[in-house]
Parts: sequence; C-alpha cells; structure tokens
Amino acid sequence: MTADAERFFRTSDYWRAWSAVPDFTADVDYALRAVRPSDRRVLDAPCGRGRVLKAVRSLGSTAELYGLDVNREMVAQVRRDVPGAHALAASLYAIPFPTRSFDAVLCHESVMHLDDPRAALGELCRVSRDRVYFSVTTRRQLNTLLRKVGLLGSSDVPHWTYNAEQLGPLLPESFRWEVRGAFLLGRKALRISHAAHARFHAAIGRHLPASLLRRFGQTLFVYGARVS
Ligand SMILES: C[S@@+](CC[C@H](N)C(=O)[O-])C[C@H]1O[C@@H](n2cnc3c(N)ncnc32)[C@H](O)[C@@H]1O
Repeated sequence: MTADAERFFRTSDYWRAWSAVPDFTADVDYALRAVRPSDRRVLDAPCGRGRVLKAVRSLGSTAELYGLDVNREMVAQVRRDVPGAHALAASLYAIPFPTRSFDAVLCHESVMHLDDPRAALGELCRVSRDRVYFSVTTRRQLNTLLRKVGLLGSSDVPHWTYNAEQLGPLLPESFRWEVRGAFLLGRKALRISHAAHARFHAAIGRHLPASLLRRFGQTLFVYGARVS
C-alpha cells in the first residue's frame, strides 16, 4: 500500500493549520445526520482535533465516543478537549477495532486526503455494524480551478477529488449508499469566513435542488447503511 499521504499527515505540521478551523463549519451538520440517539458507540476517523466528536456530544448523544487519527498532536488535543472520548493514534488502513464494533462510523473532510480511499473505506465499513458516513471534495471545486489559474495560492497538502460517478468502485457492496451534494460555491472561492459561509449556506445554498448539488456541488456527503 502506498502511504505517502499518510506520512505527510503524520509528520508535517499540517495539524497546526487544521487546528485553527472552527468547531462549527457549514458541513458539520451533514456528519451529524449519520448519528442516531440510540447509538451506543460512535467512531470518528480521522477525528482531527475532535470537533465532530464535540458536535456529536452537543446533540445530547450518550454514545461512547471514539476518535482515531494518524497525527499524535491531533489525538492529544482530543484527549485534552473532548472529555470522555477515547482517542488513539492509528491509521485508517489498519483500524485497531474488531469487525462491527460501532453503530456509526464518521469520516469527515478526509477521504480526499487518502492515497488509497478504497482500502480506507473498506476498513471504515468493516468496523461499522450499521452506518458509515464520509464527505469528499469534487473535481468541480471552484477552489481547484482558481488554484490552477493562480488566483488562490497553492498547497502542498495531498488532495484528490472525486465526482459522484467515480465513487462507485470505492464503495463496499455490503452497504447501500446514498450520495448528497452541497456547496455550489465554496468558502475560499467566495473569500468569506466560516461563519458567513454557514449563514450563506443556511439561507440559500442548502435550498438549491438536490440534483443540481449532486452534479455540480463542491462536496459530496455519502451515507452507507449495512445490508449484509
Ligand atoms: C482535514 S482533517 C479532518 C479532521 C476531522 N475529521 C475534522 O473534520 O476536523 C484530515 C485529518 O486526517 C488525518 N489523516 C490523514 N490521513 C490519515 C490516515 N491514513 N489515517 C488516519 N488519519 C489520517 C490527518 O491527520 C487530519 O487530522
């Protein structure tokens, strides 16, 4: 398995930049849709500094919360900032839990950073008893286009993009999958804050037709329910 991207996230100081992202961004709500009040064990992988775990807790969930991330600085922040959550440093390619350990498995804003998303999704599905959620950025990202033409700076962060039609081969057949789209216009392209983007999305973005968002949205939100 190639692991260049994983090495970047384990060893670089990317964690510092990501730690500056606020707890609530417009997309966090999409992760929360995969969680149910009856859930007893929820895994967030990769968990970063734990903002999705915090959001799950803020729903009033009494589930046991687990977070996993390849970066030790991220894991340390979860241990410090999300009381009661179990956080561990580990790879998505070898999740150290038994098969079907969790009711819901969340993988927010991360699949586009993986050099082997199929293997990682296989692992995320393996440890889920019932539901898996992930989000991924699409090739139609305006940010990507603006970067290409030099209007949005450059980035050395490993990043791949997927349109809805490219997801099929990545998805284990033991789950039934539903794909939703969102964000015709991204925050960076609009050059607005996370808070303003969330307001813009709540007022306008999320009311656009689902077919339009799935085809032209900048992010896809993918929900899997175990069928076998
Ligand atoms: C963009 S951040 C998202 C974190 C979190 N889901 C959130 O929304 O705040 C991506 C995270 O993936 C982690 N990561 C990247 N590759 C990984 C891998 N192969 N195994 C585990 N974690 C990984 C990085 O360390 C980083 O914390």
